[in-house]
Amino acid sequence: MESVVGYLKSNLDNYLEELKDYLRIPSISTLASYKVGMTQCAEFVSRKLKEAGMTRVEIFPTAGHPIVYGEWLGKPGKPTVLVYGHYDVQPVDPLNLWTNPPFEPVIQDGKVWARGANDNKGQNFVHIKSVEAFFKTVGEPPVNVKFLFEGEEEIGSTNLGTFLKEKQELLKCDTVLISDTSMYARGIPTITYGLRGLLYMEVEVTAADRDLHSGSFGGAVANPINELAKIISKLHDKNGKVTIPNFYKGVLQLSKEEKENFRRLKLSDKEYAKDLGVKELQGEKGFTTLERLWTRPTLDCNGIIGGFTDKGAKTVLPSKAMAKISMRLVPKQEPLKLAKEFTKHIKALSPKSVKVEVRTIHYGYPVIVPLGSKALVAGANAAAKAFDKETVFTREGGSIPIVVDFMRILKAPAVLMGLGLDSDNIHSPNEHFLLENFEKGLYASAYFLDEFSKS
Ligand code: BES
Ligand code: MN
Repeated sequence: MESVVGYLKSNLDNYLEELKDYLRIPSISTLASYKVGMTQCAEFVSRKLKEAGMTRVEIFPTAGHPIVYGEWLGKPGKPTVLVYGHYDVQPVDPLNLWTNPPFEPVIQDGKVWARGANDNKGQNFVHIKSVEAFFKTVGEPPVNVKFLFEGEEEIGSTNLGTFLKEKQELLKCDTVLISDTSMYARGIPTITYGLRGLLYMEVEVTAADRDLHSGSFGGAVANPINELAKIISKLHDKNGKVTIPNFYKGVLQLSKEEKENFRRLKLSDKEYAKDLGVKELQGEKGFTTLERLWTRPTLDCNGIIGGFTDKGAKTVLPSKAMAKISMRLVPKQEPLKLAKEFTKHIKALSPKSVKVEVRTIHYGYPVIVPLGSKALVAGANAAAKAFDKETVFTREGGSIPIVVDFMRILKAPAVLMGLGLDSDNIHSPNEHFLLENFEKGLYASAYFLDEFSKS
């Protein structure tokens, strides 16, 4: 392993340059105007997979963005590791808050800054390079390798779900290696064993069939913004619980052991609040911060539009207002059932004076990866070697919708070996990725292949 790790170390600067090329490609999956960037990015990944020594590389078109697949199966009798990553990124708005343009990566303060630097290009790129390093040094990787990179993770992975069902034979593997989560803290190697699910909805409220003068009509007809705000305000009770009927049905109680494990991680509410620039934290009564983040379902308004929002003033009663509302889900909650409950609840909260339309945008299931599998142990050992510290096991508040399908369809445990930090500003302006984590991530990836080949 020494030669492989040594090779990775001496090539760090080259890898960073290649990562910057990757980051320059604007691959925002949710915006139709970025279709060219998406195609270019898929081609970039496929090129890198070929350079890394994959003997078969294919770009599979889908109803949405392409899926990139690569494989090297030169180790019959040895296990197969499937590396999953996503090359799509989140939108960059508000653009004016970026210090550097989001698709012009710069290296500064020991970090690489760009949209996708952490989520997920910086994190997935380490696996391509670690596999390549085996070919360049010891001749070949110690296990069979498959790569599966999609362009729709940030929009719910719908087409990848279908692909997985259709291509079970192609994607057959013994474990799925994923770096798309956070480390518990800087310097602390982390394996994540639980992710929340997601249900993303849109609520549109319409009052009059056109915008109206707020003086001539105000007071006599409903204002959709006022009504939408009232509806949203009724979605939580005074204890921070979501008011949708059956929302908590089936939600598991935390075991004593898990509670104790969380406590041992010693999160300081005070520091957490300080980091975020808030005076006090807020959430569901009766739960600690880590419990709220990792094990409890939530509901949040992610965006709201309506009426006049430009500079200056306009006296208007808008015809429409719209809100994007999403729910983070935990094991045993069923996204599709909850979509129905949500719709019913919103309708029940709406006055007759407005018309309300509720739409489902996308959803993903929550997941728990059983602890103790060979793959998870190999992951924990590999991360510990790379970071020279004992690995901790965490759950996460974020979602990676396809992980459940890896478990259900491929029947392979997912090793969530996160290299990001919660302070990396993912989905936010000034996203970045610590170079230290890029470097150690390369080593962790190489150690994983080695550890797993022996298990
Ligand atoms: N990498 C994140 C998920 C993540 C972030 C997990 C931080 C744990 C810690 C992923 O790219 C993501 O953002 N997923 C979306 C999925 C959704 C759009 C279906 C999410 O969680 O919002
Ligand atoms: Mn993301």
